[in-house]
Amino acid sequence: MARPINLCDYERLAPERLPALVYDYYAGGANDELTLAENLQAWGRWHLRPRILVDVADIDPHTTVLGHPLAMPVLTAPCAFNALAHPEGECAVARAATSAGIIQIVSTLSTQSLEEVAMAANGQRWFQLYCYRDRGVTRALVERAEAAGYTALCLTVDVPVAGQRERDIRNGFGLPAGMRCKNLTPVGLDQIELVADDSALQRYINELLDRHLTWESVAWLRSITRLQLLIKGILTGEDADLAIEHGVTGIIVSNHGGRQLDGVLSTCEVLPEVVETVAQRAEVLVDGGIRRGTDVLKALALGARAVLIGRPYLWGLAVEGEAGVRHVLELLHQEIVLAMALVGRPVVSAIDRTLLA
Ligand code: FNR
Repeated sequence: MARPINLCDYERLAPERLPALVYDYYAGGANDELTLAENLQAWGRWHLRPRILVDVADIDPHTTVLGHPLAMPVLTAPCAFNALAHPEGECAVARAATSAGIIQIVSTLSTQSLEEVAMAANGQRWFQLYCYRDRGVTRALVERAEAAGYTALCLTVDVPVAGQRERDIRNGFGLPAGMRCKNLTPVGLDQIELVADDSALQRYINELLDRHLTWESVAWLRSITRLQLLIKGILTGEDADLAIEHGVTGIIVSNHGGRQLDGVLSTCEVLPEVVETVAQRAEVLVDGGIRRGTDVLKALALGARAVLIGRPYLWGLAVEGEAGVRHVLELLHQEIVLAMALVGRPVVSAIDRTLLA
């Protein structure tokens, strides 16, 4: 294929660059992958109502999220094990995100340590937190993220237990020799070694993450950090309400890219309910199946402050390392600018519900 010209082109190229075990881990979802497919299709069910004869000579996709500037309303989602795509892993993503002027959210399960990623580029970054059963482990991660200059924590709440990712079970997914979850090296929990005919990641999650996690844990977390707190994985208005009661300033509507509970609604369909309940008391972000600039506009029109992209940057990383991630972000930027021009909304604040039919 010639040089990719959209995000899906990168996905089509990725299988040539990745071992099947890695490609399946990145691409796959839980069980029948119904939600995975829905996430992609649901954005396409909304249609756009363009305004005409609006001066679109200058298009400005800048915005802010929780007060942090963004060159466009996009962040990179926390995805584990970026080094499976490219040896420079999360550090390459850090450089690309910084040059694009956006925020990188670094996973607890990164293959380079959160300090190494922070050193790689001087942009803004947030830390995604998985809570370990041992609260001392969790607290140490939070303290390290604060010390390394991360400006917000995203607590992922949709993994009390691991989803049934059948591709990973069939492939016996685990990390190759020498690759570790480096954030957990100090506490000796950094290995996810291959096991025959089973997902070593699923075992790791089920053994080590805290399945007693409740709103009490959120209150505890709120009490031990001064960082801004977002919850990632909210899918109902009821839980959005509780999150706000617990001092959360950002809500990420997410179904983990269809990798946890198969059969949940697409995030596009859930978003309006959460936005309505939140009623401006917090900022709402969304991820899942965002592949086009028009998807970003639709998310904003439904009330999201910004979107996260997961798999597309992994495909860019797999195909061309840092340059690939940069190009993915450039392509999305170009598509957002083009879409804003064609719908006659030259600034982000002009994108509202009247854009959609
Ligand atoms: C993820 N996701 C994820 N989320 C999280 O909170 N912590 C993590 O470590 C991971 N790891 C991870 C690995 C891989 C390979 C994927 C594809 C996803 C979920 C991720 O943050 C995000 O919610 C989805 O990827 C968004 O959907 P799209 O953009 O991939 O369709």
